[in-house]
Amino acid sequence: MESVQGKNIVLGISGGIAAYKSIEVLRRLVDAGAHVAPIMTADAHRFVGPVTISALASEPLHTSLWDDTSPIPHTRLGQNADVIVVAPATARVIAAFAMGLSDDLLVATLIATRAPVVLCPAMHTEMWEHPSVVDNIALLRSRGVIIVEPQSGRLAGGDIGTGRLADPETILQAIDQVLSNNKDLAGQHVVITAGGTREPIDAVRVIANRSSGKQGYAIAEDAHSRGAHVTLISTVDIPVSSGISVVNVETAQQMQDAIAHVANSADVVIMAAAVADFRPVLSVEGKIKKDQGIPAITLEPTPDILAHLGSTKPAHQVLVGFAAETANLVDNARGKLERKNLDLIVANDVSAPGVGFTHDTNAVTILSASGEMKSVALANKRTIATAVLDSVVKVQSARRLPS
Ligand code: PMT
Repeated sequence: MESVQGKNIVLGISGGIAAYKSIEVLRRLVDAGAHVAPIMTADAHRFVGPVTISALASEPLHTSLWDDTSPIPHTRLGQNADVIVVAPATARVIAAFAMGLSDDLLVATLIATRAPVVLCPAMHTEMWEHPSVVDNIALLRSRGVIIVEPQSGRLAGGDIGTGRLADPETILQAIDQVLSNNKDLAGQHVVITAGGTREPIDAVRVIANRSSGKQGYAIAEDAHSRGAHVTLISTVDIPVSSGISVVNVETAQQMQDAIAHVANSADVVIMAAAVADFRPVLSVEGKIKKDQGIPAITLEPTPDILAHLGSTKPAHQVLVGFAAETANLVDNARGKLERKNLDLIVANDVSAPGVGFTHDTNAVTILSASGEMKSVALANKRTIATAVLDSVVKVQSARRLPS
């Protein structure tokens, strides 16, 4: 977190149960040497105590446009900020920011700044998925606001779903990324696949797998923030930063066709998708009727996209595969690395708790064709993404060294 040292960070806290987590973010930013100016909305006071925030921050808490010692607190805070972070960001604050309704100090400061803004939404799943919130988030993203996606898990009241504030580590990483301004992939074209393919059995049924696409999307966001031009070939529909080109596909064949258009010009190709190994041989048109009895489904192999990319790879390209294993992690992954002619393979033991499919976290071992091995313990998928891209950059740097 060297990037935050000496930086002016405005931390906005709005009224949600997750406000208590912002205390950890605040403490760690101050410990790392940042000057943190806190702003709380009126409703945030219902969840955390102003004394706690003032005691931990670098300057007294700001709460109102009218009670501050400065006559125009929002312009001072907004103009001095190197970054503004709102954690948690409620649906109201998101809407007010999107619409420019500067009716409290926090939103007025968000509008009175040219600094980058990091919003960390937290709310119930129904609210997060409401079209008004979805549209406001899309609008803010299109203006360059960085959204730290909420995670799924237990919410206030015991419900389970998406909407939980990202963990402090993920929020700190997003701030670090903004302030360190690392553009080591600038000018490069990075192609990433995400999600699980769906192979039709008939007009309505498919063979699918458990991939959520979260790992692939995290890599896409990290590559984008590092300056890459990103093409994301995806089977799922998750909002992404504007500037990332998304190509939607469903089957392994469609994924291969989409990659064929971009693979040759790509500097980096990362296959994080879970591609089906088999697909049904389609022998019926329309829907198989239940009263025709249980159908016998004949399977045939799908194209091995990664193996094909490995056999046709341009010399400058870094080709990265993933390996989803449940036993002999390193040996199996190394076998795939060699057979498919990859530069790197990211092995995850998908039988371990919190690892692989669907989770917000992952744990991986990254193997390189030159024999290096790096393990990353259980961490959020953005941290894994950063480690994968760091390994890519390392391969590229090694290639530039005189042999
Ligand atoms: O999407 P999430 O829920 O976040 O989960 C992440 C993940 C578990 C899907 C991801 O971390 C992961 O492991 N992706 C690869 C899953 C997989 O298909 O692994 P595999 O060992 O079966 O395949 C090896 C590699 O070959 C993969 O890069 C795969 O994309 C590729 N492949 C596989 C079959 C095929 N027909 N064509 C391919 O290109």
